[in-house]
Amino acid sequence: MSDQTIESLSQEKRLFAPDAQFVKQANVSGMVAYQALCAEAQRDYSGFWARHAREQLTWQNPFTRVLDESNAPFFKWFEDGTLNASYNCLDRHLATQPDKIAIIFEADDGTVTRITYRELHRRVCMMANGLKSLAIKKGDRVLIYMPMSIEVVIAMQACARIGAIHSVVFGGFSAKSVHERIIDAGAVAVLTADEQMRGGKAIPLKTAVDEALALGGCECVKQVVVYRRSGGPVQWSDGRDRWLHDLVSNQPETCAPEWVSAEHPLFILYTSGSTGKPKGVQHSTAGFLLHAALTMRWTFDYKKHDVFWCTADVGWVTGHTYVCYGPLAVGATQIMFEGVPTYPDAGRFWRMIQDHQATVFYTAPTAIRSLIKLGATLPNNYDLSRLRILGTVGEPINPEAWMWYYETVGKSRCPIVDTWWQTETGGHLITPLPGVTPLKPGSCTLPLPGIMADIVDETGQSVEPGKGGILVIKRPWPSMLRTIWGNPERYKNAYFPEEFQGKYYLAGDGAMRDENGYYTIMGRIDDVLNVAGHRLGTMEIESALVANKLVAEAAVVGRPDDLTGEAVVAFVVLKQTRPMGEDAKAMVRQLQEWVSHEIGPIAKPKEIRFGENLPKTRSGKIMRRLLRDIAKGNEITQDVSTLENPAILQQLKDPQG
Ligand code: WT7
Repeated sequence: MSDQTIESLSQEKRLFAPDAQFVKQANVSGMVAYQALCAEAQRDYSGFWARHAREQLTWQNPFTRVLDESNAPFFKWFEDGTLNASYNCLDRHLATQPDKIAIIFEADDGTVTRITYRELHRRVCMMANGLKSLAIKKGDRVLIYMPMSIEVVIAMQACARIGAIHSVVFGGFSAKSVHERIIDAGAVAVLTADEQMRGGKAIPLKTAVDEALALGGCECVKQVVVYRRSGGPVQWSDGRDRWLHDLVSNQPETCAPEWVSAEHPLFILYTSGSTGKPKGVQHSTAGFLLHAALTMRWTFDYKKHDVFWCTADVGWVTGHTYVCYGPLAVGATQIMFEGVPTYPDAGRFWRMIQDHQATVFYTAPTAIRSLIKLGATLPNNYDLSRLRILGTVGEPINPEAWMWYYETVGKSRCPIVDTWWQTETGGHLITPLPGVTPLKPGSCTLPLPGIMADIVDETGQSVEPGKGGILVIKRPWPSMLRTIWGNPERYKNAYFPEEFQGKYYLAGDGAMRDENGYYTIMGRIDDVLNVAGHRLGTMEIESALVANKLVAEAAVVGRPDDLTGEAVVAFVVLKQTRPMGEDAKAMVRQLQEWVSHEIGPIAKPKEIRFGENLPKTRSGKIMRRLLRDIAKGNEITQDVSTLENPAILQQLKDPQG
């Protein structure tokens, strides 16, 4: 991060204090209440979390131990307690609100389906019995590759009900990505759909699963269960494949939950890191669910008449915490959407907020920016008066987009919660509370009570206000990841590095804090990009590129992008001579297609530049800083005297395609 960015961010002086009426009704009401919670956590850390774990969750057997740090950084929370996540999301609401709508589902074509808690419980039980009939049992991994649907929530909840560990793969990922995850997780079954519908187009899913399984090494997978979404064409492998509707049709309508230890893995979710191989982030049952429920109440100020809408896909952690688990754990009514925000037109989100009377709306800055571009005044055509809280997640929001969201969508009435968190953190860690925190555009403001965040320098010393540094969390918290699936060493090295004596959780983000203690996230400090709120490893894209037989070498960097935050730029050395003109353009398209096929369309480089070589030091290290400057179109001011081959800089400055 440059001093200039730090400078400009600390210049942001606008503050928006919460409205007195809002503060009065809020679950955490006013700064004094927030500070009291923070002080309670400081005073008695275990007692604080134990209290919330008792209040938020229903236990089969209560825990007696709270935090076990004896095998740090492999922390355990509430370990001798037993519970079931699906019981907490469904059964416990049946006595009080069986007929409340749990999910309002709007399909791509506008068809709306509503499901009550009673009906959702019934269908989860039938699905759970179906999974059991396939001999799927506690601890087995189940890979889920399904579109946004009531069915995918049922599938995830059914896994939780029987103690199976789900691993959801985003429907935009390729067959190759599915393959890699099946093998790493050792999945015994894959749950998928024939196709998914997005923006009026059908995109095959079952075909990708077939392709993944055909790549070999997937003997672990015994069953493929297919939800018929579109009726589109599918290939069938008898004995292995079965329709979801056949599987569940004659199953009993109740299914006793499998009581598991608080530490039993609830799910694995793969995310990019700084090596070529995605990490299987493993979450626990109780700690994760506690934070999901607690932040529904704290950050989203959940009230029983709310209609909550988080637009994230269940393929990302946001869709785990704030679609599948959090809203159901607190018994909320939520909206789920199958399609894309721009279909049939850029008013879709606003129309849905109006029609379903959403009160809380949570989306990504990249979606906000693209909707500004496509229709900055469109929200004015809809009745958005029910909205009371807005939220953002996934990437920094620029103050201009924040102001538009605040004024045009929220009509200057709705607090915006800019929630900072990660796949690994399980839920929000640094965020405004709507009835507490004066808002500062572009800042995720203050840590939640019980979250011991800090900004430190390379030696682990806290930095002074206004200075940039490394964001760390100094104490374990209940919803943190427990390990990287099958790779505890990588967990330790990536998140609890030696530099800080293995004591601090390293988030991988750079951040700064102003004189009021407000945090602003400056972006990743590792080789990870954030494109449209999605995390991509540069190494992952590089290894996809060099897997192409025409490619000799590749280096991938990010550059700022108005719409997606960051964009992927690849520098490529081919085995053949450096292409020029039309040849180069054709080669760019070919390699873009290749990356889409290897990882998924989200990883497709926006720009590819060819050189006869990459800029390297005499010791052979690729000078990425230089490549980042070239990608940005900056003048190169840095010292290039250590460069082995300065002549190739000229070639790489020339964008192709
Ligand atoms: C990375 C985590 C959190 C769920 C979705 C993304 C960036 C996340 C914010 C925010 C600035 C943010 C960070 C973080 N990020 N939220 N409010 N402001 N940056 O989860 O894929 O695990 O990515 O997203 O860089 O490390 P993820």
